[in-house]
Amino acid sequence: SGVEQLGNMIAEAACIVPFTGAGISTECGIPDFRSPGGLWTRNRPIAFDEFVASADARAEAWRRRFAMEATFAAAKPGRGHRALASLYKAGKTPAIITQNIDNLHQASGFRADDVVELHGNTTYARCIGCGHAYDLPWVKARFEEAGSAPDCTICDEPVKTATISFGQAMPEDAMRRATELAQHCDLFLAIGSSLVVWPAAGFPLMAKNSGAKLVIINNEPTEQDDVADLVIRHDIGEALGPFVGN
Ligand code: OAD
Ligand code: ZN
Repeated sequence: SGVEQLGNMIAEAACIVPFTGAGISTECGIPDFRSPGGLWTRNRPIAFDEFVASADARAEAWRRRFAMEATFAAAKPGRGHRALASLYKAGKTPAIITQNIDNLHQASGFRADDVVELHGNTTYARCIGCGHAYDLPWVKARFEEAGSAPDCTICDEPVKTATISFGQAMPEDAMRRATELAQHCDLFLAIGSSLVVWPAAGFPLMAKNSGAKLVIINNEPTEQDDVADLVIRHDIGEALGPFVGN
């Protein structure tokens, strides 16, 4: 089966780089974006320039974030996260590339330095001007007090979750690190992503073009199934459960 073949590929590989999307966290109760019921089927994304230009957009962005608070707070790493953490502990995986913002790879045992976050992190906030970090309870208290989204106490620019919105510049360090990882692995695992959002979706192709084998694990077809060496069209927890170690 696909899972058996994946086991052989993992055993033979010296350097495995996982690349994850929202599908790895759905079993943890966090909705993805494009499945039925996904976030972008319910809400239009708020683009970065709208956030900058409009106080209403900022308030709406923060209301959406606070509405997800209990979901993020309750989420624990799933079987997919734990399987990848086992590869990391075994020394097979130097670091992980993720589009996810939920901090669950860190929670599963990856050192923060070894989680390459392409789209940032929603468990804290940053000023979009000076980059100063704020915690979410600070933002929430200010929001509830003033009825509007808070600005930075240092430079007065808006404070936003530390995530990347459409139209916002990609984090340079993460892009550089992901490029190195994709170019120097021998097995690349694209897990739980529809692979439609660029530049993130370029990394599986980059790995493949650099000589790595490409495995795609996703319960629906993706944009890149035709170039993969193995496609496991199956539930991620089921597919990766056998690779969860002690
Ligand atoms: P998507 O929602 O586009 O894709 C998630 C994929 O995971 C879908 O194809 C699902 O069918 C699949 N999936 C969900 N649960 C699964 C499960 N238990 N087992 C197997 N497959 C499952 O999410 P991403 O590809 O991560 O960026 O989205 C990419 C980017 O688009 C996000 O990082 C975010 C979003 O807009 C920004 O906002 C910048
Ligand atoms: Zn600032």
